[in-house]
Amino acid sequence: MITSGRVAVNGTTVTTLGSKADPEHDTITLDGKPITVERPRIYILLNKPAGYVTTMSDPEGRPIVTDIIKDIPERLFPVGRLDFNTEGLLLLTNDGDWANKLAHPSHEVIKEYHVKVRGDINTQTLDKLAHGVKLDDGWTAPAAVTVIRAVGKNSWLSIAIHEGRYRQVRRMCEAVGLLVARLTRFRYGNLQIDSLKPGEYRHLTPAEITSLVTNTPQKQEKGRGHQKFLHSRKKNVI
Ligand code: URA
Repeated sequence: MITSGRVAVNGTTVTTLGSKADPEHDTITLDGKPITVERPRIYILLNKPAGYVTTMSDPEGRPIVTDIIKDIPERLFPVGRLDFNTEGLLLLTNDGDWANKLAHPSHEVIKEYHVKVRGDINTQTLDKLAHGVKLDDGWTAPAAVTVIRAVGKNSWLSIAIHEGRYRQVRRMCEAVGLLVARLTRFRYGNLQIDSLKPGEYRHLTPAEITSLVTNTPQKQEKGRGHQKFLHSRKKNVI
């Protein structure tokens, strides 16, 4: 087809085999009709290390999260955001429709965070976090709050929320007088970090890709079979 003069790049007929064109930016035609190249759709689950921004570029020159994914030539972008110092489960994709479905406010994905806090953990603090705290952008919705372990003034809490406001977990903790020392997203819908170490990633399975956009929070909770959307506490640590 090329040597017989049927292919053109940006309007110029190309007859040399091995000529290069960029399907993302050049218009390639066969017999005058544009050809489209279907890009593979990629869905990645990354355990984000602290010290990376989840934007596509950073005016301050800080490391960006896509720098970590070295072996995938597609242009990926993060689904939602995690703070520079937040670690844990972050999805990346090049599928804009899928990402938009997940990010839409009507699609409430449950996100579970493990938070290392300093401060007084008592029943009132946990009740406030679980039932809603007043932030400068309004009250937070009920959350599932559990003490994972408490040693002296340091505690690890599990906080599961379905909202996704800016720095929500940090602001919730600050609002009840807790200082956040570390924050990790442990779960997103039915997905968990599992054995991935910070900086490691894997491809989602086809079933995971579909279930994320079809599962409601209720289904996600049923799938886990525990942890109602109210807090529970280990009696021995309070
Ligand atoms: N809540 C926060 O405060 N920060 C994050 O990165 C994610 C949730």
